[in-house]
Amino acid sequence: MDKLLVHGGKTLKGAVHISGSKNASLPILAATLLTGETCIIRRVPDVSDTNYMIQILAALGAEVERSSGTVRITAANISHNAPYEIVRKMRASICVMGPLLSRLHKASVSLPGGCIIGDRPVDLHLKGLEALGADIDMEGGNMHMKAEGGLIGCECDLRGKHGPTVLGTDNMMMAAVLAKGTTVIESAACEPEVVDLANFLNKMGAKISGAGTRRIMIEGVEKLNAVEHTVIPDRIEAGTFMVVAAMAGDPEDGVTLNRICREHLEPSTEKLIEAGHSVEFSESGTSCVVTPGRNPVGANIVTAPFPGFPTDMQAQFTSLFAITPGISVVEDTIFPQRFMHCAEMTRMGADIKVDNGTAVIQGTSTMSGAPVMASDLRASAALVLSALCANGTTEINRLYHIDRGYENIDDKLIMIGADIERVRE
Ligand code: EPU
Repeated sequence: MDKLLVHGGKTLKGAVHISGSKNASLPILAATLLTGETCIIRRVPDVSDTNYMIQILAALGAEVERSSGTVRITAANISHNAPYEIVRKMRASICVMGPLLSRLHKASVSLPGGCIIGDRPVDLHLKGLEALGADIDMEGGNMHMKAEGGLIGCECDLRGKHGPTVLGTDNMMMAAVLAKGTTVIESAACEPEVVDLANFLNKMGAKISGAGTRRIMIEGVEKLNAVEHTVIPDRIEAGTFMVVAAMAGDPEDGVTLNRICREHLEPSTEKLIEAGHSVEFSESGTSCVVTPGRNPVGANIVTAPFPGFPTDMQAQFTSLFAITPGISVVEDTIFPQRFMHCAEMTRMGADIKVDNGTAVIQGTSTMSGAPVMASDLRASAALVLSALCANGTTEINRLYHIDRGYENIDDKLIMIGADIERVRE
């Protein structure tokens, strides 16, 4: 297991290129199972989660070639069976259910198992697929699904107790594209990654309208075709670097972020401005400069589905508020248990109390380096952020979490002046 040594206190400046979106790439890679023709996907970030998805597609029988961000997939002859050994490493592997069921009319997919960020059931995924006519049996930790004669269009409301489901919406959309008749998904997730998947499917010949709203309509088609697509920029990686800039950027020059999409970054931008920092976008909205404010102030956050404040940025803003004067309150309504980073930050000197899905943060002027443990992807990013501002050296263990979703994060930070070493073990 690699670890990261971060020697804090450096002032960061220069430019960072943001990678393609991990969370858009994963369902799009799965969607290539919907056709036997060749799909070419560009700007797929080289992170372990996309590599797992590629391994899953290969294990299902697809031919996959990857070279520097471009993945070429031909799923001519595929199996319907995704066993535990290949799905257990990543929850997003459940994205293969919809495409397999749609194309082969059957799928056996192992349940993905628990997750450190909290309870992550699949009831809404199953609700959508059942509404389309799938018979589902659970046995030995596996979900066996079949739809003899194919899936049939339906209306289904996918709202759960924590709001809409992103991958559940993706799964139902991918299942419905080859179903007979029209499907309407109510309370659909509106995240940009859902829209990117819908755009990808439409380029393949699907007929999807309304993606990006709470009501998605899908008219089933008989067949989908070859496609070429470039995935959207990663709004969570971009948001993370915006917070890096606010915490450790040069007060004169700031840090420039390139290859971004302004519309996807509004919640993080608004919070940074409210907390006293400056965010200036280029006219095209594809780059911005973030400069730390001279008198930063705490702020409050409540996470919500898009266009609300993303749960995937909660840990990074908690890290910012830990060194911002005043009291900040951060509530995660989507994953109320997603606060493992707070205990580690407290070991570095932060003053954070977590209770019932809410963190109350009293900003402190000094944090100090300590050995800390990464617990999940965004928590590890937040620890890196704290470490960049702490006195002395922070040793971040279990680095594989960060490698799941940030492409070359250490190299990108070193390029803008951070003092970081990766220790390979
Ligand atoms: N939920 C249910 N039943 C379901 C599915 C979800 O109750 O069948 C609940 C969840 O427990 C949660 C809420 O609904 O409380 C929303 O979960 P959602 O299904 O939207 O999460 P997801 O689709 O599994 C994606 C991202 C996550 C991100 C969430 C929320 C991918 C691969 N993952 O997960 O990203 O946190 O949406 O925006 O797109 C990350 O990148 O670090 C990450 C965890």
